[in-house]
Amino acid sequence: MLRTQLKVDEITTYHQSVLKDEVLELLLTNERGSYVDCTIGGGGHARGILEHIKGRLIGIDSDQEALNYSRRSLRDYFPRLTLLQLRFGQLNRLPKMVKERKFQGFFFDLGLSWHQINSSQRGFSYLVDGPLDMRMDQRGGLTAEEVVNEYSRAKLALLLREYGEEPRATKIAQRIDQKRRRGRITSTRQLAHIIAPIFPPYGRIKGLSRSFQAIRIEVNDELNQLREGLKKAWKILEVGGRICVISYHSLEDRMVKETFKGLPGGKILTKKVVRPSPEETRANPRARGAKLRAVEKARAE
Ligand SMILES: C[S@@+](CC[C@H](N)C(=O)[O-])C[C@H]1O[C@@H](n2cnc3c(N)ncnc32)[C@H](O)[C@@H]1O
Repeated sequence: MLRTQLKVDEITTYHQSVLKDEVLELLLTNERGSYVDCTIGGGGHARGILEHIKGRLIGIDSDQEALNYSRRSLRDYFPRLTLLQLRFGQLNRLPKMVKERKFQGFFFDLGLSWHQINSSQRGFSYLVDGPLDMRMDQRGGLTAEEVVNEYSRAKLALLLREYGEEPRATKIAQRIDQKRRRGRITSTRQLAHIIAPIFPPYGRIKGLSRSFQAIRIEVNDELNQLREGLKKAWKILEVGGRICVISYHSLEDRMVKETFKGLPGGKILTKKVVRPSPEETRANPRARGAKLRAVEKARAE
């Protein structure tokens, strides 16, 4: 029922990489330099970067499935491409894992890949039924099922308010709490059916998106990872090199903006944030909320 509310073309075009030309323009300052794509996902941006440089690209993702996919789809670029399973917060380890000590640019395309969204087994989407998982890194750690069933009602309400900016957070937490007393909530469909009736039909999709986003942010510790990742990338960025970030919701964008401001020796290149053109937004619904920001290391720290 819910799935039909998303137009078919929204699903099929979801995998297109967002703001591709704008990223290349802002990120690439030296074609012989080594770059890091911290969110390789389906490899779309990575392919663009590799086509425009003569140097190396390190492709990172916390999701093993994304790395497996990119290993196949980008096989023509080896050995100029190295793939590593890392989280943003582990970027300080990078110089010990590859031959470079510093890098010419870092790129982050935040959020979920089309594969993660559409794969029912990953439990990210209220549109497809699956286990309540939502971990990008499946090697361990907290799952959405644990958050939904084991967090106190107050803690649930707080995370829905903070990470989902959800005005009906208390009501949602209350309803989850009532339902879980009758048995553990284990699937995305169960959770969607608990949350949906709180909203009028026209507000359901947005309401569900906000709650699922909030739980996903908690499960993957996304905002802390982002702040840590940007700071750690800065320390191993060459002078003259750049960090570019595409974010998709206001919490991420605020975090990027604030962290950029605090980077020593940083020059903000996007005083006005870069947004997709109306043509891109029409052709690719995923681009809708995208915001691109870039900072240059103008002088050594
Ligand atoms: C939007 S997708 C990237 C899409 C990619 N740019 C493309 O063109 O196909 C985001 C990817 O970042 C990964 N990711 C998100 N948070 C991460 C983190 N903290 N550490 C490492 N990878 C992360 C996700 O697993 C996902 O594969």
